[in-house]
Amino acid sequence: MITDNLIIDFHSHILPGMDDGSRDVETSLEMLRMSGEQGVQIQVLTSHYYPWKEEIDSFCDRRDRSFSALLQKKPSTPQLICGAEVAYFRHMNHADLSKLCVGNGRTLLIEMPFESWTNSIVDDISFLSLDMEYRIVLAHVERFMHYGGNRQKLEDLSSLPIVYQINAEAFLHFRTRRIAVELIKSGYPIILGSDAHNCTSRKPNIAEGRGFIEKRFGSNCLDKMDFTASSLLEGQF
Ligand SMILES: [Fe+2]
Repeated sequence: MITDNLIIDFHSHILPGMDDGSRDVETSLEMLRMSGEQGVQIQVLTSHYYPWKEEIDSFCDRRDRSFSALLQKKPSTPQLICGAEVAYFRHMNHADLSKLCVGNGRTLLIEMPFESWTNSIVDDISFLSLDMEYRIVLAHVERFMHYGGNRQKLEDLSSLPIVYQINAEAFLHFRTRRIAVELIKSGYPIILGSDAHNCTSRKPNIAEGRGFIEKRFGSNCLDKMDFTASSLLEGQF
């Protein structure tokens, strides 16, 4: 049972050898150390899943092996939960995506296409949410906002029980901060992720992102995000 207001990093590429994130167990351990040092209590491990590269079962087998290799080194904190960052694919609503969900729940982290979203894309996501009852989290939504029409599509999707994830990084640079701030002001359910890939150029950075949010919006805003993330993990969202 997860209690409220844990600090959760909902998006990371820390599992060794799975994707363009951590390349080996040593890197993963260092990333986890950095994350724990920043106060992260639960680290969600969301390796990229690309349906055009492999079957879901093959991905899950690789993920099991990678996770076991990491656990053999007994990382102490944070608590680890496996998931995936699932790249959107047409008619994905007809696939069995349950093995790609976070932990044993129904939360699915989806990476939307880097383009203007069509109505059929929105329909697929709606179907997953309403008919298949997945709890959809859209990964780093700030990256899609400059494509024409996507702001409106995000607004349309917000009538569903969908959560928008923002990368901590977005708050740290002038170029991306405006849109990240705008997303928070919109009142959408939002959670944070580091989307960490390594220990250098894309390192665990939740604390920096949280620091900016607390200064700009106050600790209540962080509490709300933490509550949303905890609710997702508990299947209560
Ligand atoms: Fe990612």
